[in-house]
Amino acid sequence: MKKILSYGSLNVDIVYSMPHFVQPGETIAACKTEQFPGGKGLNQSVALSRAGAKVWHGGKISTEGKWLSDILEKSGVDVSFVSDSGSSTGTAFIQVAPSGENCIILNHGANYENTTEEIDRAFENFGAGDILLLQNEINLLPYLMEKATEKAMEIALNPSPIDEKLMQMDLSAVSYLILNEIEGETITGRKEPDEICRTLLDRYPDMKVVLTMGGEGAMYMDKDNSFRQNIFEVKAVDTTGAGDTFTGYFLAFVSEGSSVPEALKAASKAAAIAVSGKGAAASIPVRAEVMAAKLKEKG
Ligand code: RIB
Repeated sequence: MKKILSYGSLNVDIVYSMPHFVQPGETIAACKTEQFPGGKGLNQSVALSRAGAKVWHGGKISTEGKWLSDILEKSGVDVSFVSDSGSSTGTAFIQVAPSGENCIILNHGANYENTTEEIDRAFENFGAGDILLLQNEINLLPYLMEKATEKAMEIALNPSPIDEKLMQMDLSAVSYLILNEIEGETITGRKEPDEICRTLLDRYPDMKVVLTMGGEGAMYMDKDNSFRQNIFEVKAVDTTGAGDTFTGYFLAFVSEGSSVPEALKAASKAAAIAVSGKGAAASIPVRAEVMAAKLKEKG
């Protein structure tokens, strides 16, 4: 089985259940305030591991964030490359509306204090054919990509949250780009899913593009193949972490040799289950639950 190094953010998610999102100039009380483990990196590592992959997490917290690495460990993730020497653990302030939709404010904290020495140490344990998974919530992304390329590892990138820094990056070393429509439109300037994928493949012909399209499901495209997957219908409670669940499950399945359609199906089912529970990492299902779930596919 391929080894996966998931280098990414760990956040304390402070989740406010709101009657509606706060408007400019408005002050409203939350119906409920809860704290959950989160961070796109942590969530994706948990999803990979719960899907059955062998995963190591790299990243940084402060000593008060130790409970986050404990949760990773309890989920089966190796935390040898999580340092607790950061100044403050990353935080995400999340409003969740009754529809299950969210909006998020990030405070990067230690997620932006990773060093090249720590990264070098982590990479000593990986080699050709292993996979590096990244999102865009930590510093030193270009350095991480260079290291993976030197080692002939495959790179999977979830360019989320999208920003100017990421837009300027050369993505030619990325094997799997897993993104949503908004990120796709920001990177390519195209709106139509097919066009987003084709524009990315024009720029990066060897890339495998996985585009998630909310209620419209997901699509995959590489230079030879394209596949589509509908969503599975559930009542949305909290959509936070649904994309992370999808990414972790998709990558776990393709890395173990499953076909792309099988990986898309498992990822969509897992994301649907995650949406029907509260919290990000907290609602990521284990593989047995995903395989046993009898959910109705839309369309
Ligand atoms: O993708 C969801 C995650 O985004 C949350 O857990 C939050 O920490 C932010 O990073």
